[in-house]
This record gives sequence, structure tokens and C-alpha cells, in this order.
Amino acid sequence: MHTKILIIGAGGQIGLALTRKLKAIYESKNVLATDLRADEENEILPLDVLDSQALYTFVKTYQITEIYHLAAILSASGELNPQKAWKINIDGLFNVLEVSRELKVSKVFFPSTIAVFGDHIDQSNCANYVPLLPKTVYGISKVAGELWAAYYFDKFGLDIRSLRYPGVIGYQSLPGGGTTDYAVDIFLADFAQKPFECFLAADRALPMIFMDDAIDATISLMQADKAKLTVRTSYNIHAMSFTPSEIAAEIQRHNPKFDIIYKPDFRDEIAKTWPAIIDDSLARQDWQWKPKYDLSKLVQVMRDNIHQLASKQQ
Ligand code: SER
Repeated sequence: MHTKILIIGAGGQIGLALTRKLKAIYESKNVLATDLRADEENEILPLDVLDSQALYTFVKTYQITEIYHLAAILSASGELNPQKAWKINIDGLFNVLEVSRELKVSKVFFPSTIAVFGDHIDQSNCANYVPLLPKTVYGISKVAGELWAAYYFDKFGLDIRSLRYPGVIGYQSLPGGGTTDYAVDIFLADFAQKPFECFLAADRALPMIFMDDAIDATISLMQADKAKLTVRTSYNIHAMSFTPSEIAAEIQRHNPKFDIIYKPDFRDEIAKTWPAIIDDSLARQDWQWKPKYDLSKLVQVMRDNIHQLASKQQ
């Protein structure tokens, strides 16, 4: 069947980079990027995922065969407005699940996160199947989403696939509302030759991934042989783990004058509940996941390209 892709939340941090890559693979005319607000520069059409009728009409009109549903409120923003985060994250997913079931969309991608973890895990090596006891509304919504995804697969045969993204770091787009966003902002401070005020504690280790690896993982999972996929909630993927002081030290190898000041706030309380390292052996086994970037390569590529992001900020 001819592939026709709908991306929901295409204007977000992952959406912009993923759209570019999918257009390169499937041709621009087969990839429809949408977000709440239209964006002519990035060829993004307006579509509100909470408007189930508009979503239904869109999917039917364009004969969509695959949906990447990226629209969500992340961990830090979610804590500032829990009701809104729940509504967007859950009602939005539900509308996607229902339209996909009704119109027989052949594949759906739904991102999950390291924020699904909380109490009673091994933070130094967190397996795929552990108790999911998150402390944020974002985490709660993603646990519920994972379970709904598995339910739609079991009950209706909907081929919905999911990854638990670590903190995603890239120069292609600005992040928004996440606890891991510091690891992008730190490069903007380095570029602007300013001291960086970090909202996490110096030794708060978190799992992180470079944008290109995150995009490759997403597309590999979506292209993987259906029969090989054993996880229908969400796959752990791991690339690297570092603390704010470790990434600062790596930046200082390139720029010895770089300075970091620690002012932990509520986001450090969120990060405290997440693992430092996650075990992604199921992703490696089922669809050969393997990251290309470690901390030193990440810092190199970010410093080489951060001017692109700095110019978008103005
Ligand atoms: N990057 C996300 C956040 O910090 C985690 O999935 O909220």
C-alpha cells in the first residue's frame, strides 16, 4: 500500500527533525506535518488533535496510512497545569487511537518517556518491565497511554508502536517544558559566552540521546518487522547517561572559560525520581537498536551546530 504519513505535533522539538527525515525517505508529498498552529516556513498545516471531527476528516481526506502522534505536554510544564496536561496527553491520544481504529490506519507511533518510571526501580539499570509509579502528571499520562496502546493492539489489532525517549538533545529545534531541556540550554549559554544557570543538581544523572539517534530509533521501530516486536507497551532505548557536571566538564574541554552555576528547583525533584540508566536489551534484540552518539560526540556535534538554534531563538 502507498504510504501517506500524518505527523501530529510536527512543530515541536522532535516533530521538526522527524518531519524532515520522513520527507527525505517518503517524499514531501507523502508526509503531512500538522500542529495546533500553522507554520508556513516549515510547511505545517493547522490541526487540533483535541478536535476529533477535524482529525477524522483529515485522516479520511488524505487517506492517511501512518500516524506519528507527538503532541504532548512534557514533565515540567505538566506540573504547572496538571489538568491541561492530562487533557492534551490523554484525550489527544484517544482521538488518535479511535480514528486509527475506525479508518484502519496501518501503523501508529506514540512516544513514551523515561518519566514513566518512579519509585521502586533500580535507577542504575532500569529494565523494560518494572513497576511504573511516576510522580508527575506527564508520567502518569504516558503510563496510561502505554497501556491503552497495548489494549488497542490486543483488542483491535491496531499496530501501534512506542519508544520511551530519554532526554532528547539537538540543535535542530528548541525543546519546551521538559526536565531534560537543560542539556540543550547549556549549549546556548556556551555559544553566547554566558555562565549557565542549571536547574538540576550537579550530580543528577539522567539518560539522554542525540536527536539523530532518537529519529533513527523512531524510524527503525516503525519500519521493523511486525512479527519481531515483542513489546507493545513501550520500548526502553538507551544512548548515554550524564550529570550536569559531567556535560559541563566536557564542554570545558572545548571552552575552558565555560562556567556553570547550580540552582536546583522543582525540576530537580522530578529528575530525582527518574533512572540514570535504562536497560534497552529488548530494543537491541527485537529491532537491532544501537545508538551512534556518546557524550563526547554529542558535545562536538552540538558545539559545531548550535549557531543554528541560537539564530532561531531571536
Ligand atoms: N524530556 C522529557 C521531559 O523532560 C522526558 O521525556 O519531560
